[in-house]
Amino acid sequence: MDKQRLIIFDTTLRDGEQSPGAAMTKEEKLRVAKSLEKLKVDVIEAGFATSSPGDFSAVKSIAEAIKDCRVCSLARTMPSDIERAAEALVDAVAPRIHTFIATSPIHMDYKLQMTPEQVFDQAIGAIKIARNLVDDVEFSLEDGSRSEFEFMCRIVEAAINAGAGTINIPDTVGYGTPGEYGEMIGRVINNVPNSDKAVFSVHCHNDLGLAVANSLSAVLHGARQVECTINGLGERAGNASLEEIVMAIRTRPDIYPVEVGIDSTQIVPTSRLVSTVTGFPVQPNKAVVGANAFAHESGIHQDGVLKYRETYEIMRAEDVGWNTNRIVLGKLSGRAAFSARLEDLGISFDNKADLNRAFTRFKELADKKREIHDEDLQALVSDIQIGESAEDLALVAMDVSSKTGRAPHAELTLRSHGNDHSVSAEGDGPVDAVFRAIEKLADSGTELKLYSVNAITTGTDSQGEVTVRLEKGGRIVNGQGADTDILVASAKAYIHALNLLGNPDRVHPQLGGV
Ligand code: KIV
Ligand code: ZN
Repeated sequence: MDKQRLIIFDTTLRDGEQSPGAAMTKEEKLRVAKSLEKLKVDVIEAGFATSSPGDFSAVKSIAEAIKDCRVCSLARTMPSDIERAAEALVDAVAPRIHTFIATSPIHMDYKLQMTPEQVFDQAIGAIKIARNLVDDVEFSLEDGSRSEFEFMCRIVEAAINAGAGTINIPDTVGYGTPGEYGEMIGRVINNVPNSDKAVFSVHCHNDLGLAVANSLSAVLHGARQVECTINGLGERAGNASLEEIVMAIRTRPDIYPVEVGIDSTQIVPTSRLVSTVTGFPVQPNKAVVGANAFAHESGIHQDGVLKYRETYEIMRAEDVGWNTNRIVLGKLSGRAAFSARLEDLGISFDNKADLNRAFTRFKELADKKREIHDEDLQALVSDIQIGESAEDLALVAMDVSSKTGRAPHAELTLRSHGNDHSVSAEGDGPVDAVFRAIEKLADSGTELKLYSVNAITTGTDSQGEVTVRLEKGGRIVNGQGADTDILVASAKAYIHALNLLGNPDRVHPQLGGV
């Protein structure tokens, strides 16, 4: 079979970040971008430059740092959005502007309140402006799967003539079904006279759990770019998951007439990084990257796998980066080994003081935990990069007692605006007591939406990684904390979430209606 290249367009940093609570700082986005570069994705959609000064600066930093992938910014079809995207991408080796407008009757009538002709003119005008600024322009017909076929073909033909090299037809609301959606992509390709001048792309949401199936069906009908995210992160139920798309194509070369340039051994490390940075745990039974994805519980399966692995395994765990959980550092490792390992993981610090803090934290951790894994380093660096400012709330010390028959009691020293305060509280459990004590000082008026603890590595000396999701006035944030003591990790995560609520750069990046 003649294999064509399928372009893997990763939108974890843009659509993925639109998951409520998944907003990332610039440093975190940069770390994820470097990991995506190691994974060898073709395009990194780094953000939506015009949505906030924070997102502009993140896109700009990623454009400067990434050398081996195209870097893309989303832009509405307004000239100011497109110019802002170009400005953020100015230092990119291979910049792409991705401009979009909705083309379905329901979106044009109710959301945009524009006629199809106005949408047509605005789209084509935007593509021309973008093409004057960069060579590589992608155009998306938002809500494509619910758009009228004739209108879609007309706008696609004109978009290609105006200079769009990639045409993306999203299933924005996750409404499509595999046969119908794939066939629709094939029909557009066959009907548009200049379709051979562009790459056709798909972008599927997972509202019915069909995002991966819809994307793969489109590949069978001629799509040559798939937009996807690590761990399937994304708006509402998420986007098509990168790891599932890539491994379906690698595992079934007899079905899919395409190949991908991904280094699949980087899949699990990237998945873990995204989970740590966003605070969205990966469900254990998640395909490819879930903790149980390669675990065989039943005796019959174990027996089969021991005799001949392929009886029950269609992929090799090591091919997607499992079992690379090497012990990398320990108590005796020095600064050079520590820095070299961070460099390998694509982690860098803006200043020496942060590197020194990280090294001190590493030594403290190595005293408590004999084996330091890459995951420990990622969590430790996340902690440092949380970068509390002097005004932020910080944990100085804590003492928690929990005895059978007595209410757990927590005493904490917290620093706020440079002053130390002692607070104490009782709770239904020790974590509850810790949170109540923090609230005595913070009095935040927030609602706790989620509390979860994950072991970062295996073994009882593993660090616990805690995620705390808080909501206030419609804003949702995820705070993270890691420590070998899960009560300390819980306090850190709660405080981190409170600090995020006070940080305007961490607002949900998507703007309102176009
Ligand atoms: O889901 C969607 O339609 C999008 C577009 C902006 C590509 O995210
Ligand atoms: Zn989307």
